[in-house]
Amino acid sequence: MLVGGEGTRLRPLTEWIPKPALTLVDRPFLAYMIEWLAGHGVTEVVLACGFLPDVLRAALAGEEERAGAKIRYVVEPEPLGTAGAIRFAAEELGEDLDDRFLALNGDVLTDLDLAALLRAHAERGTTATIALHPVEDSSAYGLVRSGEGGEVLEFLEKTGERAPGEVNAGIYVLERSVLDLIPPGESVSIERDVFPRLVGDGLQALRLDGYWMDIGTPERYLRASWDILEGRVETRVGPTAPGILVAADANVAESATVGPRAVLGPGCRVRSGAEVRESVLLDGCVVGENAHVAGSILSPGVEVAPGAILGGAVVGRDERVPAG
Ligand code: GTP
Repeated sequence: MLVGGEGTRLRPLTEWIPKPALTLVDRPFLAYMIEWLAGHGVTEVVLACGFLPDVLRAALAGEEERAGAKIRYVVEPEPLGTAGAIRFAAEELGEDLDDRFLALNGDVLTDLDLAALLRAHAERGTTATIALHPVEDSSAYGLVRSGEGGEVLEFLEKTGERAPGEVNAGIYVLERSVLDLIPPGESVSIERDVFPRLVGDGLQALRLDGYWMDIGTPERYLRASWDILEGRVETRVGPTAPGILVAADANVAESATVGPRAVLGPGCRVRSGAEVRESVLLDGCVVGENAHVAGSILSPGVEVAPGAILGGAVVGRDERVPAG
């Protein structure tokens, strides 16, 4: 699993924590992915880390036991890109890596049927199989066109064109031979450098229907939060009310309004007359009297001054939002 990126589109949330370790609703994002993998019989997950690996490790403490899968950490000395990271991890693992393995982007909340993907790959006896997910607007994703038998005809990385299509879900089954296409020690992208070379030569795709959301932007991070809390994706999270999760020790004044849609992390306080809606407040945030927070994500320790109005904001750790 690739977890070494800097998550620039989620800054400032990701200035101090890697995107895969960022809390989504009530747990580090990767917990959802590891539980999904474990649910499909995966017993060992290798995390290809780069950016802030120690923060990632600390965030996932206890996850092995919870999910029932072993977690191994491999740390790149410098970012090697999505393919370079796979090659580096494979070299570190040596004989421990099977001839056939899964490779995944570490920022996808999903319940897609991995078993179906593995089955298709085995039946077709191919080199690489990409999971595809249908979207209305494919502009921000890698668009994949495939033939009747699943063979990939064209692989287009982020077209910018707002057309519906089947996009690369960031979930792959690979044969070890793919590693030979990745030069060692160099920054190489699997989407841009490796898959295009496999078109017509063993690159297959399989459309999988189900839930899929890449949490890489603030808008999608919020959407994923509501999807979890409104039950559109199956997780172990237990909402306080539909669309709402308030941590047991969060404190909401009687005259304050929380929701529709809100996450209040541990230690958050919402003072009298304040309103929080369609927003996620991570640990220890304080919303002052009569302040309004809407459509926003607040990193741990943010303080919103009394009377302040905050809309569509992403606020960094321990910042203070002044009124007016
Ligand atoms: P942005 O900077 O916002 O694009 O996010 P990102 O850095 O996460 O990049 P992107 O979403 O394209 O990456 C997809 C997945 O690959 C994420 O799970 C990243 O953590 C991971 N990833 C990207 N580049 C590298 C890398 O050089 N090394 C490793 N190990 N993982 C990477």
